[in-house]
Amino acid sequence: MPQPATYDATSRINHWAIAIATIVVLCIGLYLGNFDGDRELRGNLRDFHKATGVLILVFGAWRVLWRLFQGFPAAVATLPSWQMTAAKIMHWVLLAAVIVMPLSGLLKTLFAGYPVSIYGIFSIPAPEKVEWVRDLAGQVHGIGGWILLVALLLHVGGAMKHHFIARDATLVRMLTGRSTRS
Ligand code: HEM
Ligand code: HEM
Repeated sequence: MPQPATYDATSRINHWAIAIATIVVLCIGLYLGNFDGDRELRGNLRDFHKATGVLILVFGAWRVLWRLFQGFPAAVATLPSWQMTAAKIMHWVLLAAVIVMPLSGLLKTLFAGYPVSIYGIFSIPAPEKVEWVRDLAGQVHGIGGWILLVALLLHVGGAMKHHFIARDATLVRMLTGRSTRS
């Protein structure tokens, strides 16, 4: 497969749709995991968190496979090699999180004996409780959430630095596909 010249429309839709959904689900997760609040609100947020997380898993699997199949286009700008390496590592951490976070959340919930309702339309039934799977998946989900938060802050910070300080076309290319700034 030759290296793509830019991010095509599919890659850009994949990136932004999964990015927005992941940021929303991550913020709700961090709220649920770290703050108290009204029981009913927490319940509704938890249901939305789970259902949207499962959607991310389904579309995320397609998104990650598409990226693996296509490969990454070359960077728009020439950067010091440590920054290139850091950006690459962040991309792989983010791609992994798109699968690992919803999968661990799903396993932790199902193996705790709770079915997962997808917006009340249908439900994924719970198997027998298995404590070690629930606990392991819970650990991965908890630690993974913080790793995702740090990777995301570095990723967005990097994108802003490219756009506003280096003033190159890195963000423009992910928004429009064009590799130059006019
Ligand atoms: C406001 C938030 C975000 C901004 C401004 C942003 C910006 C960007 C930009 C400019 C690139 C292109 C980098 C390059 O050409 O080297 C990129 C790539 C990438 N971003 Fe984001 N991003 C955001 C959120 C996210 C989130 C939440 C995720 C993960 C869930 C994510 C995952 C990725 C990945 C994996 C790539 C590599 C290319 C691809 O597979 O799409 N981004 N992002
Ligand atoms: C991109 C997808 C997801 C992200 C980024 C995410 C993130 C998080 C984070 C950061 C927390 C707080 C850490 C903790 O207390 O363990 C959390 C809690 C939780 N997540 Fe997720 N999650 C995702 C998907 C899912 C899915 C698909 C499910 C289940 C089907 C799920 C179920 C839960 C549950 C039950 C909690 C605990 C809520 C509470 O304390 O009341 N998550 N999630």
